[in-house]
Amino acid sequence: MVRKRTDLAAIFARKAKGEKIPMLTAYDAPTAQALEEAGVDVLLVGDSAANVVLGYHDTLPVSMEEMLVLTAAVVRGAPTAFVIADMPFMSFNVSIEEAIRNGGRFIKQAGAQAVKIEGGGPVAETLQAMVQAGIPTVGHLGLTPQTANMLGGYRVQGKSADAAERILRDAELLEAAGACMLVLECVPDRLAELITRQLSIPTIGIGAGPHCDGQVLVVHDMLGIRSGFTPKFVKAYETLGERMKNAAQRFRAEVLEGSFPGPEHGFALEEREHKKLLARLDHDPEKGETS
Ligand code: KIV
Repeated sequence: MVRKRTDLAAIFARKAKGEKIPMLTAYDAPTAQALEEAGVDVLLVGDSAANVVLGYHDTLPVSMEEMLVLTAAVVRGAPTAFVIADMPFMSFNVSIEEAIRNGGRFIKQAGAQAVKIEGGGPVAETLQAMVQAGIPTVGHLGLTPQTANMLGGYRVQGKSADAAERILRDAELLEAAGACMLVLECVPDRLAELITRQLSIPTIGIGAGPHCDGQVLVVHDMLGIRSGFTPKFVKAYETLGERMKNAAQRFRAEVLEGSFPGPEHGFALEEREHKKLLARLDHDPEKGETS
């Protein structure tokens, strides 16, 4: 039986039933397949790909073309997952027309089920136009890495009553504009709880406490692939970075000492054919050389 893709109705039903929504980022087909097989059926092709996959310093440089390639790979790798593509910095900020055109490419060309855009009030009109054009769109409030420079760096948002209220009002605006989900990044638990209760669309938290409808982590953080600074909200369930390094060290050592590849990794030339070949080449097997 062919299983159908998870859709928005199924995700909304989880919120209605009080069932949590686990979401992970993915950037390639085999990882997407593994996550889907593990039962994580909501995948975000985050623009965090810029840092964790493409080696950029932050998320700003990643392009539409790069994100389209990664999104299409995830869609192919996870044929039953709901795949959300992050719209890169400046792909939705210049004009509404451009935002619709770019958002549409993720749906039409890469096969995503939704896109995500960062920001509150200033992007609400854009988000509304995208939804009206038929592009399911996820909002993203709190710490919005694309505008981290305007927020004074990567820091927790909404810590004062004023700042918290602004985020809550932005959340209401995005819901009214037609957002189908809302990512809340690095906001206090109690604010996330208020927003989650206030909205009818699912909230997905990252560093936003346990009260959101769902939780998302960057898969490289969750698997312990990256070294360097790890934010407080990350839980590493694995140490794959160390295990990858260890495997590469063993491979290197075996190549250097000649124990890899072994006979079981190669392809035999039958004795008879070998002899024939050597004779044809006028090779003296005793001397091990060809004249
Ligand atoms: O780009 C990303 O991975 C994200 C998540 C952190 C929510 O936006």
